[in-house]
Amino acid sequence: MTIDSGFNHITVLLDEAVEALALRADGCYLDGTFGRGGHSRLILSKLGPQGRLLGFDKDPQAIATGQALAAEDGRFVIVQRSFAEMGDEVARRGLDGKVSGILLDLGVSSPQLDDPERGFSFLNDGPLDMRMNPDQGISAAEFIATAPEDEIARVFKEYGEERFAKRMARAVVQRREQQPFTRTGDLAEVLKVANPAWEKGKNPATRAFQGLRIHVNNELGDLETGLEAAIEALEVGGRLAVISFHSLEDRIVKLFMRKLAKGEADNLPRNLPVQHKVFEPRIRLIGKAQFASDAELQANPRARSAVMRVAEKLR
Ligand SMILES: C[S@@+](CC[C@H](N)C(=O)[O-])C[C@H]1O[C@@H](n2cnc3c(N)ncnc32)[C@H](O)[C@@H]1O
Repeated sequence: MTIDSGFNHITVLLDEAVEALALRADGCYLDGTFGRGGHSRLILSKLGPQGRLLGFDKDPQAIATGQALAAEDGRFVIVQRSFAEMGDEVARRGLDGKVSGILLDLGVSSPQLDDPERGFSFLNDGPLDMRMNPDQGISAAEFIATAPEDEIARVFKEYGEERFAKRMARAVVQRREQQPFTRTGDLAEVLKVANPAWEKGKNPATRAFQGLRIHVNNELGDLETGLEAAIEALEVGGRLAVISFHSLEDRIVKLFMRKLAKGEADNLPRNLPVQHKVFEPRIRLIGKAQFASDAELQANPRARSAVMRVAEKLR
């Protein structure tokens, strides 16, 4: 496994995200999406000798980069797990309720998208895989080969927000009966033909590919579990910063933070006697949603869809 695959990742909202964590030099931080360590390195540069950083990633290449960093810097540790499992990892390390700040920079990294061999790309042909951790779960090819037509349509529609999901799923199922899909280029071609409404400047397979990627990696399920776990793991006064890249993620983050910032009272039946504590907010929101600056957008067009939301744990 090479550490440098030749594909680079430009970190999005680098200074903004690290600033949002309001770092304490001796704090213990968690980077749930290490990637190539852009955020992690900046965090480490601001921590003192007592500071600690725990990194997570599912991706073997990200882990290799993280292990190299850990070998250089004893304050850093990386684990190959989903951030959805951070509760277990934090408890194992005796850090429950003691983490000073958590960052989630969601989705896929540029090296994953750009390397055709990872199977995310509809532009560059490669094996139809799409798993962030290729040793876990089923690949996109296995899903496409075995799922019922209506399940494929649901994935295209719910996770890809594809209007023509049914039609595209039907085309996929018809084709797989003759020949299974093994390559991204082949699938992209069938989706392209089945999509009757091409949007200007957008590959007609984009939405369906997004849906598949989100499904194969359980991205929204992991996000929901990870947000809950993050609030438990944080110490009082600790910060959570989450960067999303599409509206499905951002909606989950926004609703989650809004619910905890309002208190949970509106979920309870009206006349139920409840302890006063239930009405108290668990977090406060720090500022509004933040977007990339014009300067960042010029340097990195992939930052255009990034939205960051930040919260602080109150109890
Ligand atoms: C946008 S990149 C992060 C880039 C990183 N902040 C940097 O500066 O290099 C997202 C990374 O998170 C990882 N990832 C996505 N979802 C994950 C999850 N549920 N658990 C662990 N890692 C995840 C991906 O494998 C990818 O490497």
